[in-house]
Amino acid sequence: MFAKRNLMGVRRGKYFLLVVVVCGCLVTLFLHYTTNITYDVILTAVDIHQWNFQPGQWRGEERPPDRLPNDDNNGNTPHRRALQYLVEEDGLCTAHPDMDIIAYIHSAPEKVDNRQLIRNTWGNTRYYDAVKMRVIFVFGSAKTEKERELVTQESQQYHDIVQLNFDDTYKNLSLKGVGALQWLTEHCPGPRWVLKSDDDMIINIFALSSYLHHITTPIMSSLPHQHSVTPLPNNRILCAVWYGMPVLRGTGCAKWCVTEEEWPHKTFPTYCSGSAFVIPNNVTRRLYHAYFHAPFLWVDDAYITGVLSREAGIGHRSIHSLYELNHHLIEKNLVKGNRIFCHHPGSANLRAKWWRIIASKESQPWNFTNSPKLPS
Ligand SMILES: *[C@@H]1O[C@H](CO)[C@@H](O)[C@H](O)[C@H]1NC(C)=O
Ligand SMILES: *[C@@H]1O[C@H](CO)[C@@H](O)[C@H](O)[C@H]1NC(C)=O
Ligand SMILES: *[C@@H]1O[C@H](CO)[C@@H](O)[C@H](O)[C@H]1NC(C)=O
Repeated sequence: MFAKRNLMGVRRGKYFLLVVVVCGCLVTLFLHYTTNITYDVILTAVDIHQWNFQPGQWRGEERPPDRLPNDDNNGNTPHRRALQYLVEEDGLCTAHPDMDIIAYIHSAPEKVDNRQLIRNTWGNTRYYDAVKMRVIFVFGSAKTEKERELVTQESQQYHDIVQLNFDDTYKNLSLKGVGALQWLTEHCPGPRWVLKSDDDMIINIFALSSYLHHITTPIMSSLPHQHSVTPLPNNRILCAVWYGMPVLRGTGCAKWCVTEEEWPHKTFPTYCSGSAFVIPNNVTRRLYHAYFHAPFLWVDDAYITGVLSREAGIGHRSIHSLYELNHHLIEKNLVKGNRIFCHHPGSANLRAKWWRIIASKESQPWNFTNSPKLPS
């Protein structure tokens, strides 16, 4: 009797262990798909030396299918119209013909403080001589008369706002991206690079500027009979690339849930983290034109850098090691000086503090000697 009961106890213990292990696996899987823990693991795994940037791995793109998944049966997509400007700011780029980088920042009418912080930090025009960059903020229509007045005032004071005529909602974020592409195509084809970012990012513009210069400067081969190589990122978006990112379905994914009608596939096409990415400006027009025939998707980063870039035949180059999206590690890595793009949604004070670290290193010469050769 006792022995038998004991044996059952042991067995029960074993079952209990099994259940614990299985549950643990399920919870891990659940977290893997529902949080951005995976991103942190990817993003912090690479440690690089001061300013010796590594461009990350390089992968070929699969050939895009002739039709994209949610085209209707005839392969037609609904007719789309150009967006209408409320604030156009059409003279910014012609006024600065020597500009290298035009940065467009997704903002919202009410995010006045975030915009001001950027104007006081990495978007400050006093750095123009050093980095040849200007910033514009992009958003949709104001919700109240008061907000409308404030936007008008702000725009007249700073001349750095492009406002488009659509409701500024989460599910309209892709229109914000399209509006920016439209504005760049129509009013800003000159600068070589386009930087997209969000209004809660801090960006080391000095390092970014020298990195872009570095990757486009011809490398003289050390071998006598070889030509110089220009390691240009031809027709590729530079970013933290997500490959095979699963589409979140059902409940428990909050505002990120996507229905079968919105996107029928289990994964998104290869795309970039929307926190920050860099587009060679001569492909901007192609991305914008793709909007008129590609299927629509409201997840803006997957849409602009995934759906539209696939439609336009534009690939990706991973520069993961330049991102720090885990705010616990930002300060450490800024002091070490090896991150360009830093994200913190909550604290403006912290962002201001990080900018002071970056600005204190402004005059430091960036050293790219050790960065691996880029594929040509
Ligand atoms: C997007 O903006 C358009 C135009 O203002 C509006 O009609 C539509 O309801 C908005 N969509 C969402 C999902 O908010
Ligand atoms: C953009 O410019 C690069 C370098 O000048 C060139 O190799 C590439 O083909 C251009 N792309 C387009 C779409 O014009
Ligand atoms: C850059 O780094 C390389 C290797 O770490 C070093 O040999 C070189 O002297 C450095 N250059 C400058 C200007 O600091």
